[in-house]
Amino acid sequence: MQKDPQASQSTDQIAQQLQETVETVAAPVIILDDIELTLGEGASRVHVLKGMTLTLEQGKSVGIVGPSGSGKSTLLMVLAGLEQVDSGEVTIAGTRIDLLDEDKAASFRGENIGIVFQSFHLIPNMTALENVAVPLELAGKKDAFTVAERSLKAVGLAERLHHYPSQLSGGEQQRVAIARALAPSPKILIADEPTGNLDAATGKQIADLLFSKQQETGLTMVLVTHDPQLAARCDREVSVRSGKIISAFSNHADQDSAGQSAYDNMPEKAVS
Ligand SMILES: Nc1ncnc2c1ncn2[C@@H]1O[C@H](COP(=O)(O)OP(=O)(O)O)[C@@H](O)[C@H]1O
Ligand SMILES: [Mg+2]
Repeated sequence: MQKDPQASQSTDQIAQQLQETVETVAAPVIILDDIELTLGEGASRVHVLKGMTLTLEQGKSVGIVGPSGSGKSTLLMVLAGLEQVDSGEVTIAGTRIDLLDEDKAASFRGENIGIVFQSFHLIPNMTALENVAVPLELAGKKDAFTVAERSLKAVGLAERLHHYPSQLSGGEQQRVAIARALAPSPKILIADEPTGNLDAATGKQIADLLFSKQQETGLTMVLVTHDPQLAARCDREVSVRSGKIISAFSNHADQDSAGQSAYDNMPEKAVS
């Protein structure tokens, strides 16, 4: 029987596309391998990160929990290439960012990583629109104001483009910060206690927004939080104590079997 070349080609194409999809979904986008970091000088020297190892697959979310001072914010700084490790390897989206100099790390961050802070970090004398557009302009993006407007509308702030931060509620300011972080379409969103300065109801709205953006865009999210409910919504939870990961597990184990790391075999979390 003669083969229809078009039909067989399309079957091959479909097989290849499927393979690429599987690889993209399962590929770890974040790999921390035994990272160590000491900060400060002399008497204030602190061994902050003590051999942390962690992987996270693209499109997944991880909630990082742990007491104050355990190294959570420092860990995020390392992931963003804002803090250099003393030893160990940090691979983000296939790039060893621990090997990049400051300029290269900054441009890598600009393209790949969005960051949201507890205290919003908006520039007070710029409008919401300017807060989102100006970093895009500085990064040399075309149509910065158009992209910024679209990003603000996508977080529900179409009516607040020309407001200054002081004219916005806490929840609205955090939406601006999220719009700013997501405007360059990063692969990874890092958030340090994104709901920490908000009341419970507003915090839940911000969490809803983050998870809906994750669903929409296949974003990988790393959230540091004190809120057990927010951590429980993440695909994975990692507990940190004194610079070490003491437990890590999947919250949706049935959907997550392909991408588990050794940490998922650690003991289940203690009942809190
Ligand atoms: N630049 C620094 N110099 C010295 N110690 C630091 C520095 N930055 C952070 N630390 C210390 O590292 C530890 C972890 O800090 P951090 O990552 O902010 O913890 P967390 O976010 O979990 O509260 C704390 O004990 C803190 O005092
Ligand atoms: Mg912190």
